[in-house]
Amino acid sequence: MTWPRAIELETERFSLEPLAVHHAVEMTTVLAPLSLYEYTGGEPPTVDSLRERYGRQSAGHSPADDAGWLNWIVRTTDTRGAIGYVQATLTHEEDELVADLAWLITPDAQRTGAASEAAAAMVTWLNTQEVRRLRAFIRPNHRASSRVAENLGLRPTEAMHDGERVWEASRGGAPANN
Ligand SMILES: CC(C)(COP(=O)(O)OP(=O)(O)OC[C@H]1O[C@@H](n2cnc3c(N)ncnc32)[C@H](O)[C@@H]1OP(=O)(O)O)[C@@H](O)C(=O)NCCC(=O)NCCS
Repeated sequence: MTWPRAIELETERFSLEPLAVHHAVEMTTVLAPLSLYEYTGGEPPTVDSLRERYGRQSAGHSPADDAGWLNWIVRTTDTRGAIGYVQATLTHEEDELVADLAWLITPDAQRTGAASEAAAAMVTWLNTQEVRRLRAFIRPNHRASSRVAENLGLRPTEAMHDGERVWEASRGGAPANN
């Protein structure tokens, strides 16, 4: 399977860099605050675990090659500091390319529109890559992440998956019929 490869993307305030192992050291600091795990679970990674994770993720696809892995580090263009990441996991479902989206912005940089701006650049690029459906899995009480999804044109569906609501948009913005 040939999956799209992440390329560098620019927004007004941020550059989105395709993830690489060398990002592990600075991202250990970005991912350290415990509040980041309030809705998703998990814990701050060590630099070694992040190097190992980034080594796997930067391959661009799952080991079985049944999913494409696209990851970008979000970096401010003024200070050049990394502030978070955006992510899309691609799969083929019913002959359509579907992208499961995720985002994280470190607390010091939150509530400035960073997640919405960076994720919008990712979505714009995904739309050039034959992606037909966008999807996100969000805890029902996770207001910030729900707002990011809304800003991207995703809408909540009735479907739940592991306690998370499934949000969707199809190309053209119509919500999925489930
Ligand atoms: C979710 C997250 C990425 C949002 O990042 P962000 O850069 O603050 O998001 P934005 O600044 O683009 O804000 C989007 C909207 O959410 C609102 N918002 C942000 N943080 C909020 C909060 N703590 N409570 C309520 N609303 C919040 C903003 O006001 C904005 O609303 P608007 O579109 O009406 O103006 C960030 O909180 C985060 O990284 N959380 C931890 C990781 C996580 O849970 N990721 C999502 C997994 S589904």
